[in-house]
Amino acid sequence: MNITFYGHSCFMIEVDGTKLLLDPFISPNPKASHINISDLKPDYILITHGHVDHVADAKTIADHSGATLVSNFEIASWFENKGVKECIGMNTGGNLKMNFGRIKMVNAIHSSVLPDGAYGGNPVGFVIQSANKTVYYAGDTALTMDMKLIAEEFNIDAAFFPIGDHFTMNIDDAVRGANMVNTSTIIGMHFDTFPPIEIDHQAAETSASTAGKKLILPEIGNTIKI
Ligand code: NI
Ligand code: MN
Repeated sequence: MNITFYGHSCFMIEVDGTKLLLDPFISPNPKASHINISDLKPDYILITHGHVDHVADAKTIADHSGATLVSNFEIASWFENKGVKECIGMNTGGNLKMNFGRIKMVNAIHSSVLPDGAYGGNPVGFVIQSANKTVYYAGDTALTMDMKLIAEEFNIDAAFFPIGDHFTMNIDDAVRGANMVNTSTIIGMHFDTFPPIEIDHQAAETSASTAGKKLILPEIGNTIKI
């Protein structure tokens, strides 16, 4: 699995040749000004909830790449009405069969409204399972006991957790979440983009390593392999 960070909570995950783009918020993010969204050619765009810092570039990228947009029913319908050609609406607990394996839509504790005020359904996370690697992308969420269900069903190689606090969980809850989903690797997201979610990187790394976890704080534009 190749994972490229595009800032905030946006990643391109390449799994067995299929490119999944998660929560694209790039062009409005000054920290990602060196990323040109027209270079991004995902096969699928996965959206966790309707907030603008997760959907801002979804339509533009879907339009130029022809990517299929996957989200909850309400958000998929909203994008369909905006003219996105391929949209798949699911709901929490559902699985989507993929060439590489499957994507399961799981619960997140947050809120969800679309940029024009339309109802965005319930916020979600995704488990992306392939033959070799399985990752959990938590979306914007608080810590929830539901994360224990993920460990019952999957062997999670790495978990993407928000660590910026204020709107989501912080590093300490991310460490607890990593214990609940039974993984030793945390990929941090939803930090440093705005003043309320700026973090002390050294302190976050210390919190993780003290708990026996590896914390990856990716650089925008860089690719990591897991
Ligand atoms: Ni949000
Ligand atoms: Mn957010």
